[in-house]
Amino acid sequence: MASPDNKLINWGIIGTGWIAEKFAQGLSVLPDAKLKAVASRSVDRARKFAAQYHIDTAHGSYEQIALDPDIDVIYIATPHPYHCANTLMCLENGKAVLCEKPFAMNEREVLQMISKAREKKTFLMEAFWTRFLPSIEKTMELIASGEMGAVRHISSDFGVWRPFDPSHRAFNKLLGGGSLLDIGIYPVFLTLLLWGEPNLISAVPDIGSTVVDESLALIFKYDDGRIATLFSSFTVNSTVETHICGTKGRLKLNRWWHCPASLELTRGDNETQRIDPSYIGNGYNYEAEEVMRCLRAGKTESSILPLGFSLRLIRLLDRIRKEIGLVYAADEHE
Ligand SMILES: NC(=O)c1ccc[n+]([C@@H]2O[C@H](COP(=O)([O-])OP(=O)(O)OC[C@H]3O[C@@H](n4cnc5c(N)ncnc54)[C@H](OP(=O)(O)O)[C@@H]3O)[C@@H](O)[C@H]2O)c1
Repeated sequence: MASPDNKLINWGIIGTGWIAEKFAQGLSVLPDAKLKAVASRSVDRARKFAAQYHIDTAHGSYEQIALDPDIDVIYIATPHPYHCANTLMCLENGKAVLCEKPFAMNEREVLQMISKAREKKTFLMEAFWTRFLPSIEKTMELIASGEMGAVRHISSDFGVWRPFDPSHRAFNKLLGGGSLLDIGIYPVFLTLLLWGEPNLISAVPDIGSTVVDESLALIFKYDDGRIATLFSSFTVNSTVETHICGTKGRLKLNRWWHCPASLELTRGDNETQRIDPSYIGNGYNYEAEEVMRCLRAGKTESSILPLGFSLRLIRLLDRIRKEIGLVYAADEHE
């Protein structure tokens, strides 16, 4: 019999794109999660998605899923400029929300979302899946252990070549295009998590014909001399590794470091130990598990990824965008 501790949690998904599929696959390894409904702007797309992932209900509008009485929590998988409005609609109707990264387009929108969640006393979390991966926990543990000495440098890159398509959300400014908000957010997230806000930011973008950053190089400098060098791009396939360097050793988060990945710890100059954290599922299940832990405990936010962290992250992204003069329609409301 289901106890409150393992009560089945009914999920809904808004959007039927690339990440919605990955998340549906992630949920499928959690026995106490039921993917019960999906919503699309097109009922045909909703039905197709529902058939593929054995989902009971296919809604032909986002409004319908927000009103669906069978749903406990909604995962929002639309392009960034819709995150705020989709989240507000779900919260307004008393649904808990897990919303994709970037949480929204800017600080103003994130503040609106947080304020609505608090007004409705309803759970809200950014779907920053990397935060919940065993490799990140291990990284934090190794740094805290002092094995690497004092960490002085982080280098982290995330470059994935994409064919240029001005209508695709990666390049289309109206859909929140640009490498920073899509993939550069990962190196920025990790540096913020490990070191907090930098004292100085130097940013060099390559702005393409759709007036978004197709590549972006960042340097974060801290007053005590720590430096992070970060890079994102849609024009090259970079290593997608992170190197964390200390006075006594270094840690490498291997390729696709933001996913379930292995680590390599080097002590001194040469002795390298490979660390393979064990994973289940495709990685998206970890963030979903945290949401369900919080819902069962009656919490309205996660203590691992609190709303205050998401606010600091969007403020840092806004600060970087200011450095490179990158403005979106959502900023015009300021
Ligand atoms: N955590 C991760 O690993 C990860 C990875 C990739 C993306 N993401 C995030 O997830 C979000 C979606 O990315 P994606 O790659 O899944 O995008 P996508 O493949 O383009 O899918 C987005 C979905 O949003 C819906 N949508 C609503 N309004 C839309 C519009 N005007 N144009 C296009 N689609 C619209 C569509 O679903 P319907 O037509 O069915 O309504 C579409 O299938 C982004 O914010 C991105 O940053 C996260």
